[in-house]
Amino acid sequence: MTRLASAADLAALRERLAAQYASGEPVVRVCTGSACRAAGSLRVADAVTEELRRAGIQVSVRRTGCQGFCQHGPLVMVDPEGWLYGGVTPSDAAKLVDLTVRRRQLIEHLACRHPETGRPIGSTSELPFYQRQTRLVLRHCGLIDPTSIEDYIAAGGYRALARVLETMSPEAVISLIKRAGLRGRGGAGFPTGRKWEAGRAATGTRKFVICNADEGDPGAFMDRSLLEGDPHAVLEGMIICAYAIGDCREGFVYVREEYPLALEHVRIAIEKAREFGLLGKNILGSGLDFDIEIRRGAGAFVCGESTALMFSIEGKRGMPRVTPPRSVEAGLWGCPTCLNNVETFANVPLILNRGADWYAGIGTEGSKGTKVFALSGKVKYTGLIEVPMGATVRQVVFDIGGGIEQGKRFKAAQIGGPGGGCIAEEHLDLPIDFESLKGVGSAMGSGALVVVDETTCMVDLARYFLSFTQQESCGKCPPCRIGTYQMLRILNRIVEGKGEEADLRKLDDLGRLISRTSLCGLGKSAPGPVLSTLRFFREEYLAHILERRCPAGSCETLKRLTIGPECVQCGLCEETCPQHAIMETENGLAIDLLLCVNCGACVSVCPMECIAEATGEGGANDGTGDEGTGPDHSYH
Ligand SMILES: Cc1cc2nc3c(=O)[nH]c(=O)nc-3n(C[C@H](O)[C@H](O)[C@H](O)COP(=O)(O)O)c2cc1C
Ligand code: SF4
Repeated sequence: MTRLASAADLAALRERLAAQYASGEPVVRVCTGSACRAAGSLRVADAVTEELRRAGIQVSVRRTGCQGFCQHGPLVMVDPEGWLYGGVTPSDAAKLVDLTVRRRQLIEHLACRHPETGRPIGSTSELPFYQRQTRLVLRHCGLIDPTSIEDYIAAGGYRALARVLETMSPEAVISLIKRAGLRGRGGAGFPTGRKWEAGRAATGTRKFVICNADEGDPGAFMDRSLLEGDPHAVLEGMIICAYAIGDCREGFVYVREEYPLALEHVRIAIEKAREFGLLGKNILGSGLDFDIEIRRGAGAFVCGESTALMFSIEGKRGMPRVTPPRSVEAGLWGCPTCLNNVETFANVPLILNRGADWYAGIGTEGSKGTKVFALSGKVKYTGLIEVPMGATVRQVVFDIGGGIEQGKRFKAAQIGGPGGGCIAEEHLDLPIDFESLKGVGSAMGSGALVVVDETTCMVDLARYFLSFTQQESCGKCPPCRIGTYQMLRILNRIVEGKGEEADLRKLDDLGRLISRTSLCGLGKSAPGPVLSTLRFFREEYLAHILERRCPAGSCETLKRLTIGPECVQCGLCEETCPQHAIMETENGLAIDLLLCVNCGACVSVCPMECIAEATGEGGANDGTGDEGTGPDHSYH
């Protein structure tokens, strides 16, 4: 391929490719995103390719990025009908080629089913999981082959860049991004246009653009999926940013080492863009020189923080620094640096292609456009989803996620990763946007959305997130280094049934102090999960403290033994118990829960096998007095 020397060259190439692609022939799209790969989709793609070869059929098998419906992988989508098959194995290849490709018939037992009717779904557009999404940023993910620049160009890729370089001034680009209302998707929601404007205003002959693809939050896989599935969209956004801020010839994509597929696809995309004249010197003959390199992160969560990330690129230890100066004025090697998140950059070509007014028409007053979420946890359908800002938690969890698994009750949604917070049942109709989430003590974060049901202990969940941030704290400032450690000690005590009521006040005070006084966002947001669960699930904390009971029945040390109605009062357990926790009551033998240490000695000697662990709320003899029939064989 010779380099494209102008916007006209690019348009001509797109036309040639489009003609080639618009044959009307079926296309078999095998999802080769990380989740489907793990489920064996590469072997499926090989088997289908081989089967087509044997049958002498010229149909393209496209290995795409994540198609989103991860729960049912390996996924295969067959176009033009848009049929979606789930759980496909290599042994299905012959049938797929013969029935679907050759005879254009839907294979019912492979087709994904409608969650309510159980009917095999003809096309993805009929599946509530897709129907209720607005896939704009994810528009190419799952459709194109991310290793093929031709696929991206045929789908309209680099058109925005060409138009920008040919017809727009840098100021006009910035003004458009500002009018669109794009806010950064990396967590804090800073207005992107304002950042670029500051980048343009900053003086320096050397400026940088950085794409933050560190993504260290537990439960997050949006940025990885975007980079794996549509890397050119991110590069295109970065090139446009470089043009807009001016004097910028170098860019970096900072990807964590644990993302090998994303790394590979970005590497291929950069090489291809260079080959086609979309990176390097004199891009599309416009005079713009800009190139991008990859930097690998070692997987420290704090390195996602912008200043720490820049130190990491410089080869120093990734520790945040005090701001100001802001990175946009003095960032990488002291030069003005514009750093944005993967999804933020992927929004840019979309806005330039469809216009600021169109974009600003999606979402809410203060939060425009869509948001990509990694939906996981106890929902029926987990996966990669995209909704307009302002969609409610209920719409995401029930309409798209299909509700809670095994008919259990929705308890909470943890949004925003370790710096976010929990949304309780009473907030199911809360619109998801930057302001609303902040209003209930949560945060958008980068887009991890973990749903939990009644079997999850909220105290333990808060402890999990806090232990993550505590371990990931870089230790530079005392409020974060010492404060999170102290909070964690208190939480450990509570889940072990050794807490005191005064601990709740201490957690609250410490949490607020740490948020106020920490140097960077890690420490500032670390208490979020604890503060939000204290606010909405206080009774769970109190049950652990006052009753040594875990209402969800999940805290190991608070799992309680109870004596069932089969007890014949032989007294063996009473004799064996080293704590003397078993005693006679007017209802028979019972275990004193404050003395019992759960050693299981009584269980091992009981000839009737009637001593067992009680499960949380509503379980047998859980001490709440709600056990229903039968004597209460536990105290306290
Ligand atoms: C501890 C910590 C980790 C972060 N990790 C990420 C990350 O993985 N990806 C990201 O884009 N932003 C992350 N951020 C936010 C960045 O510091 C920065 O605000 C963001 O990348 C800016 O891009 P945006 O304006 O496009 O959102 C993190 C912040 C903190 C405090
Ligand atoms: S808040 Fe935590 S992570 Fe941030 S600089 Fe201080 S110690 Fe390091």
